[in-house]
Amino acid sequence: MKEEGEVSSAAAAAEARLAMMELANMMAVPMALNAVIRLGVPEAIWAAGENAPLSAAELLPAGHPDPTVLERLLRVLASRGVFSEHGGSPRRYALTAVGRTLVATGPSGASYADYVLQHHQDALVAAWPRLHEAVLDPTGPEPFARAHGGVPAYAYYGKDREANEAMLRAMTGVSEPFMEALLDGYAGGFDGVATLVDVGGSSGACLQMIMRRIGTIKEGINFDLPDVVAAAPPIAGVSHVGGDMFKSIPSGDAIFMKWVLTTWTNDECTAILKNCYNALPDGGKVIACEPVVPDQTDSSVRTRALLENDIFVMTTYRTQGRERSEEEFRQLGLAAGFSGFKAIYLDPFYAVLEYTK
Ligand SMILES: C[S@@+](CC[C@H](N)C(=O)[O-])C[C@H]1O[C@@H](n2cnc3c(N)ncnc32)[C@H](O)[C@@H]1O
Repeated sequence: MKEEGEVSSAAAAAEARLAMMELANMMAVPMALNAVIRLGVPEAIWAAGENAPLSAAELLPAGHPDPTVLERLLRVLASRGVFSEHGGSPRRYALTAVGRTLVATGPSGASYADYVLQHHQDALVAAWPRLHEAVLDPTGPEPFARAHGGVPAYAYYGKDREANEAMLRAMTGVSEPFMEALLDGYAGGFDGVATLVDVGGSSGACLQMIMRRIGTIKEGINFDLPDVVAAAPPIAGVSHVGGDMFKSIPSGDAIFMKWVLTTWTNDECTAILKNCYNALPDGGKVIACEPVVPDQTDSSVRTRALLENDIFVMTTYRTQGRERSEEEFRQLGLAAGFSGFKAIYLDPFYAVLEYTK
């Protein structure tokens, strides 16, 4: 007969093995997500807002030899909150609020589905098995560059039209909903700005949304790498300017910069911020939007999303590029010469960081 303590420790050990089994196979989740997006499932279920639960057979062409293969993907994603499951035989699936982020609602037609697709391209996936090399050689090339003959991610995108376009759409898909929240909560932050420069502005979608809402901004400059702006669509009132933010940044009354600092080392961030400082008049400000990691580690969705994104940056962009705490962002601004710093939390992922000259 087993004692009570032995039984509970055996049960705890079984739970631990189960938890590790889940972690070991965790890759099934993003890969299933990537697969259903490639198969057009979220758009088909959404069908112009109907969100009617559909079975795997209804989602596949008539006469498909085995819809249960798709059903297995839908089931695992239902267990992760992407789909809701209805009925038993056949099981039918609708989109949850999480799943609806995969369907475009903004003017560009991009969504979080584009972000998922961009992250799971072969070129990016190839970097992940080399993650331990980042630990062994933290000042050396990041895993992406190691997997691609020394070519860093942004240079790789610049040479590959498909990767470049995937990046533009991914950034737009994630940025549009955040920009709505920013413009609802921070519109006054653009007071007095007639010329706004977006550094690392990608397609110019963020600048376009700002200028649609803030009528006092008369001129927008979308500044990014030459290959990126060459693929950006024309936008009224916006000039696309190609260049390198490590060399110089066009002048404006204020600089907007979203999701740029995260991907660079502390020294590189200071260099970027110094070039921003030089491009601004006295009293001018940088409005940076970046993920800010909490000081405490916990298992909330927010903390996980931020910490997982940090490892994505480590793998893809720079081993020592990283998500930072509010204090670390403040220090970067001080090192670049800015005297004022304020962090504003409007969104669970991105914080607004104001650096004033
Ligand atoms: C993570 S993306 C963010 C895009 C956009 N700001 C957004 O949030 O949707 C970073 C951007 O920085 C740009 N970038 C990278 N290196 C650059 C450089 N040296 N000079 C200017 N832009 C650069 C990339 O091309 C990319 O568009």
